[in-house]
Amino acid sequence: MKLNQLIVLVLSLLSAGQSFGAKMAIPADAPASYDAECASCHMAYPPGLLSAKSWENLMGNLGKHFGTDASVDPKMQTEITQWLIKNAATRQKYAEVAPENRITKTSWFIRKHDEVRAEVWKRASVKSPANCGACHTDAAKGSFSESNIKIPAK
Ligand code: HEC
Ligand code: HEC
Repeated sequence: MKLNQLIVLVLSLLSAGQSFGAKMAIPADAPASYDAECASCHMAYPPGLLSAKSWENLMGNLGKHFGTDASVDPKMQTEITQWLIKNAATRQKYAEVAPENRITKTSWFIRKHDEVRAEVWKRASVKSPANCGACHTDAAKGSFSESNIKIPAK
């Protein structure tokens, strides 16, 4: 094998092995309404964490949003929905239709977190698996890599 072929092989192996969670930033073209309407009760979730179908389902039922009313005006609803769908999860593995439209109910989420004990999710500073930033210190920047995890002691 020639050196340049070897380099290509090594690079492709590296990127294939690169974890999904390392970079999942919010795309720069996010409408201002996303931050304004979808980041007041919890973090602005990166669109790449859910499938297009799941975003569509979630955005179509904002009046009944996990026990609360998160409705927005129709113009914003269309704008946010289109942007979420455009940037939704694409890779087969992550593009499943999520139970209850929850990132935290997808099979990849459950698999990646199978080492987190039940008691940890209930700690006062965590409270819910949906509270990504409690453990992923760079969650707001869309980074979920293993090197940026700190599980709170209580
Ligand atoms: C009035 C508060 C509120 C607003 C505004 C709001 N949400 Fe939520 N959202 C919640 C609550 C409460 C939950 C459930 C959190 C939990 O289980 O810990 C939730 C959960 C979610 C989840 C699932 C998290 C999981 O478990 O994987 C997604 C996705 C989500 N919201 C997206 C959005 C989007 C998109 C918008 C903007 C259109 C939005 N939210 C606006 C309160 C809100
Ligand atoms: C209680 C702490 C905790 C919470 C809350 C939490 N995670 Fe994690 N997360 C972890 C741990 C621990 C791992 C496993 C790291 C490892 O494999 O060593 C992990 C792994 C991941 C990975 C895989 C990282 C990789 O490099 O393979 C992703 C992606 C991820 N989490 C996303 C999320 C998202 C999105 C949320 C919120 C919806 C969330 N996590 C909430 C603790 C948490």
